[in-house]
Amino acid sequence: MPVSDGAAPRSAGALADAAARTLAAAGVPDPRGDAAALVAHVLGTGAGRPRSAAEADEKQAEELAALVARRAERIPLGHLTGRAVLGGIEVAVSPGVFVPRVHSERVLSHALDALSPVARPVIVDLCTGSGAIALALAHARPDAQVHAVELDPYALDWARRNAARRAEAGDTPVRLHQGDVTDPDLLAALTGRVDLVTANPPFVPEGTELLPEYGEHHPRQAIFSGGDGLDVIRGVVRLAGRLLRPHGALVIEHGHFHEETVPALLRGSGEFTDVADHLDQDGRPLHATARRTG
Ligand SMILES: C[S@@+](CC[C@H](N)C(=O)[O-])C[C@H]1O[C@@H](n2cnc3c(N)ncnc32)[C@H](O)[C@@H]1O
Repeated sequence: MPVSDGAAPRSAGALADAAARTLAAAGVPDPRGDAAALVAHVLGTGAGRPRSAAEADEKQAEELAALVARRAERIPLGHLTGRAVLGGIEVAVSPGVFVPRVHSERVLSHALDALSPVARPVIVDLCTGSGAIALALAHARPDAQVHAVELDPYALDWARRNAARRAEAGDTPVRLHQGDVTDPDLLAALTGRVDLVTANPPFVPEGTELLPEYGEHHPRQAIFSGGDGLDVIRGVVRLAGRLLRPHGALVIEHGHFHEETVPALLRGSGEFTDVADHLDQDGRPLHATARRTG
């Protein structure tokens, strides 16, 4: 359904209402939120909700109609606006790069809590994608030395751009590494020196049916990870066990169906203590935390 007749300027409120109806009909999970974000994007009011009295001109109304049509095809919102926000900073993303999820705010807040008593911490963010978690940590903790690892050169390129922008804005530069978290020799120089490891790895079992945003419009290696979804997580657990100093913290995002398997993996490794699992904002299991044994 077109959101503009292309003739007269229309109010942001009316455009958002029409866009939300189109998105709801297409099965988009948060049609009102996405409609507001697309209107704000087109009107140049940033990620916030536009004032409903603001007016779009004809060109903006056409641009919005095109974006709404693509969102109705279930192209992820972040790939249309080219950005996502985590921990109060914005990162740029494009198709081919994972769009950071609002769920990761909880991962971030547990990570920052774990670091609060540590001065000048060394942090490693595994499977960094656009770099969002690593950059948000560097933003919140200017005294930290932050390393970030990504396998996919294309995603790493976006992490590099984001890191350069954040460094220009005054944040401590993040050190980026291309690497495979299942590589037993990765970051050998940091062995036993790291205060915090974070990871939002791919965790969906192969063959799982997903929303098109994830099943069709994200790179497979950002989403799927073997028959039980744990291939990369096993590597993360092994690597964190080697990198962390005694009592260092691990925060690892996982599938809601991994509520028991990931904590069991951590306990079974014999290298972690204080293992706990945590819920997301919808009350579903989201991430595990643990401490390296002393
Ligand atoms: C779910 S995405 C998360 C990206 C980012 N951490 C975030 O929260 O926005 C997982 C990322 O892990 C990367 N990845 C997959 N397998 C990997 C591996 N074995 N080693 C390093 N990175 C990997 C993917 O390319 C993807 O960018």
